Amino acid sequence: MQTITTVAALSQAVSEAKRQNKTIGLVPTMGALHEGHLSLITRARKENDVVIVSVFVNPIQFNNKEDLEKYPRTVEADCRLLETAGADVAFVPAVEEMYPEPVTDVYHFGPIEEVMEGPRRPGHFSGVAVVVRRLFDLTQPNRAYFGEKDYQQIAVIRSLLQQTGYPIELVPCPIVRASDGLALSSRNRRLSPAARAMAPAIYETLCQAVEMSETDDVEDVKQFVVDNLASYHLVNPQPDGLQFEPEYFEVVDATTLQPVQKWKGENGVVGCIAVWLDGVRLIDMVRFR
Ligand code: PAJ
Repeated sequence: MQTITTVAALSQAVSEAKRQNKTIGLVPTMGALHEGHLSLITRARKENDVVIVSVFVNPIQFNNKEDLEKYPRTVEADCRLLETAGADVAFVPAVEEMYPEPVTDVYHFGPIEEVMEGPRRPGHFSGVAVVVRRLFDLTQPNRAYFGEKDYQQIAVIRSLLQQTGYPIELVPCPIVRASDGLALSSRNRRLSPAARAMAPAIYETLCQAVEMSETDDVEDVKQFVVDNLASYHLVNPQPDGLQFEPEYFEVVDATTLQPVQKWKGENGVVGCIAVWLDGVRLIDMVRFR
């Protein structure tokens, strides 16, 4: 595996691959890699001649300074994992290398960013789009791999591809979970042991919601999810006043991401949630139909 830190060296590696007519798979990440990331890399490995993984904590997608400062950075361990996972190139640029000039580009995605994460993280998706487009420009991939854990991000990238017309196949990959159901996330490392033990209740609640959806209305199921998590600490007393603070739970059309009132949807129906626990913001999603 080649570890590349400059745009010039990356361009050279990409030109060489293109010259040999090799297909390129791109997996963008912010590092602190776990099995969720590795599942994307394994899939990319199967489908492409050359696999490029970027590891870059993208400052312009963080709307919260503390979240950026506390974001786990484990570059050396990441590179070892990437080597084992079969990546060909780890692209690990410094901020000045990615953004030699101040970023002025702003992207808009219309209704898909007016829900869920969009209004709560102003500028987040535009920041994601800027970095992903730059990575697309630099690596010219045939395929790009994204996890359904960040469900809305996939819709944003789909829209970015429509806006740019880039001939890149977007490959959405299923969520990888810990054995107790918690969706793997780099931010899980910031949970205290007590909070980590409590966190699986998020996915348990989502699974209960899926069962309820067989008989109950959307509104009732939404209410159940929020109430069940918000009252968890009352039913299961916690040390240090730990409690879930649900930020939202939305039931939306799987493609347009617009809220639905009925379980029927042409494109399928998913539920997306953001919950605070122990000062960490956790997100998850589940498919209803
Ligand atoms: P990051 O949070 O590091 O995630 C990188 C990719 O891994 C994303 O596509 C994400 O959805 C996927 N992923 C994370 N946890 C996963 C899990 N448990 N199961 C499956 N896939 C999972 O998402 C970002 O970085 C950034 O926004 C990025 C796209 C790199 C742009 O900066």
